[in-house]
Amino acid sequence: MARVNNQIILAERPQGLPDDNTFEFVKKAVEDVKEDQILIKTLYVSVDPYMRGRMENAESYIEPFKLNEVIEGSSIGEVIESKSDQFKTGDVVTGMFGWQEYYVAGENEVRQIDPSIAPITTNLHILGMTGLTSYFGLLDIGKPKEGETVVISGAAGSVGSTVGQIAKIKGARVVGIAGSDEKISFLKDELNFDGGINYRATDNIKDDLQRICPDGVDVYFDNVGGEISDAVMTQLNRYARIPVCGAISSYNKEEQDLGPRVQQTLIKKSALMQGFTVGNYSDRFKEGAKQLGQWLQEGKLTYRETIREGFENIPGAFLDLFRGKNIGKLLVKVGEREYV
Ligand SMILES: NC(=O)c1ccc[n+]([C@@H]2O[C@H](COP(=O)([O-])OP(=O)(O)OC[C@H]3O[C@@H](n4cnc5c(N)ncnc54)[C@H](OP(=O)(O)O)[C@@H]3O)[C@@H](O)[C@H]2O)c1
Repeated sequence: MARVNNQIILAERPQGLPDDNTFEFVKKAVEDVKEDQILIKTLYVSVDPYMRGRMENAESYIEPFKLNEVIEGSSIGEVIESKSDQFKTGDVVTGMFGWQEYYVAGENEVRQIDPSIAPITTNLHILGMTGLTSYFGLLDIGKPKEGETVVISGAAGSVGSTVGQIAKIKGARVVGIAGSDEKISFLKDELNFDGGINYRATDNIKDDLQRICPDGVDVYFDNVGGEISDAVMTQLNRYARIPVCGAISSYNKEEQDLGPRVQQTLIKKSALMQGFTVGNYSDRFKEGAKQLGQWLQEGKLTYRETIREGFENIPGAFLDLFRGKNIGKLLVKVGEREYV
């Protein structure tokens, strides 16, 4: 009997926070596997904040999702049928399979994972996209020096938690801003951050920063934008560097967010603010992955995962990113391996 492929498609472009009307669950027969192709069973799906941007019909660094098509995103899966010389059943692979249970892929669409190096899920975060984002954004733009103060917003998430650990490896003093006391304890107790601010429990982030960063801020790794970033910008030192990685506080805003104008601060502090996307560094991914893997094996880097179970829980998990329900990388487990 033909296998049924459960899929989640973009049914409607959201206004503000996506809701039940945004996504639709559909069933399709799994396609036949042709010569040089493989059939992949999805094991883990990554939900990522940037996917919200792809739900808009707007020009960006990446194509918008198409209406009524499967939501595209990175996943990990197992090869369960192969008509390719390069893959055999039981191989674990990663690629952009999207929010569906099965995917027929061409040989060049996927990358094989070696499960003996680290848990396979690390390829969706610390050894994958978010790890590389942290590595290049911090080291190429932030350039932290020993003894400098690095402040990170969205600090307990996948990118932020890795950025802070890399900054510690480089000898910086690291302060994280995140949305719960549990997250601040995680940063300080498990990741050795020097300080933390729960932005939901304070009415003056600027005063808190002055207290926790008495020598000012040399690098601000910005994952969130908005009022948190407005506060950090007041504490910059001369020649501060600000890698602008994300602006999650505005991803669901229907109106353009207007904040304090930053030009005067940048001039007075001779500061450098630079936006980036991880794709800018694609020709250096090997270098980044090698270093991240080495630090992981040496125990200099660690990670936390928040894993939801069940294909039907993918949209809810995605929305949880905007509710701050995750510590570390948010993933959804949707299937079990068949060949172990
Ligand atoms: N430039 C790039 O190439 C690139 C690549 C990957 C990711 N990014 C960006 O990096 C950022 C982090 O991504 P991630 O994958 O590591 O996600 P993540 O940090 O693991 O998850 C998102 C976190 O954002 C925080 N958040 C949600 N709404 C917020 C708001 N209104 N104000 C402040 N914080 C809010 C929540 O934590 P709290 O509890 O602390 O609020 C939530 O846990 C995102 O902005 C993402 O778009 C950029």
